[in-house]
Amino acid sequence: MTTKESDCKVPEENTLKKHWDIAYNKNTTQKLGWYEESSKKTIELIKTSEVAKNAKILNVGVGSSKLIDELIADGYTNLIANDLSEKAIEDVKDRLKEKSTEIDFIVDDLINPSKLNQLSNIDIWNDRAVLHFFLKEEEKASYFKLLKQLVKNNGFVIIAVFALNGAEKCCGLELQRYSAEMLQERLGEDFELIKKFNYTFTNPYGGERPYIYTLFQRKNK
Ligand SMILES: C[S@@+](CC[C@H](N)C(=O)[O-])C[C@H]1O[C@@H](n2cnc3c(N)ncnc32)[C@H](O)[C@@H]1O
Repeated sequence: MTTKESDCKVPEENTLKKHWDIAYNKNTTQKLGWYEESSKKTIELIKTSEVAKNAKILNVGVGSSKLIDELIADGYTNLIANDLSEKAIEDVKDRLKEKSTEIDFIVDDLINPSKLNQLSNIDIWNDRAVLHFFLKEEEKASYFKLLKQLVKNNGFVIIAVFALNGAEKCCGLELQRYSAEMLQERLGEDFELIKKFNYTFTNPYGGERPYIYTLFQRKNK
């Protein structure tokens, strides 16, 4: 998954935020390598969870994806949209216009959070195409630490990432590819796998990108 490689240079150290801002500045949403017209596969898993329409759904690294628009249209009322890139969040706000006031937007770093860690009682943690960018052990550990801090008992985790046969790079960045078993290992025995499926996403440039989609539920303790 990539935008045109010329638009996505490998970032130097500590410039990841800038890297993502540049990607969103250089490309309209529809030209991003990870753009999908509908987030139907994610929505399928949200429906499987059977959470109420007022469930607190935290969409991490949501970028400028149309997921938020689709969830609003479907009647979900308690949505949080996070990204590291201010530009991505601005694009969503511009698109939603007055409806954007219904959303809690949080520009913050999942790996070094200063705002996300103030949240609690999350019903669904939803990630499409974010976790796979975290390569260092301390980054992965921070991600799962935050997730486990925020997701409530009986709450759900949706993670959709590049599958083991997925691409090795996206937007100029190396990726960690996953199986459902690898995600289960990271989440630990407090989380039960409810559903998983493979899905090959075709990007706006015709490239095929195999993903693994997973839905886990936190056990009641
Ligand atoms: C490939 S895009 C996927 C965007 C969106 N989830 C989608 O499916 O269209 C990865 C997103 O993760 C965001 N991101 C990367 N590192 C992040 C971090 N440490 N904290 C929060 N967001 C991050 C990027 O800004 C980008 O919007």
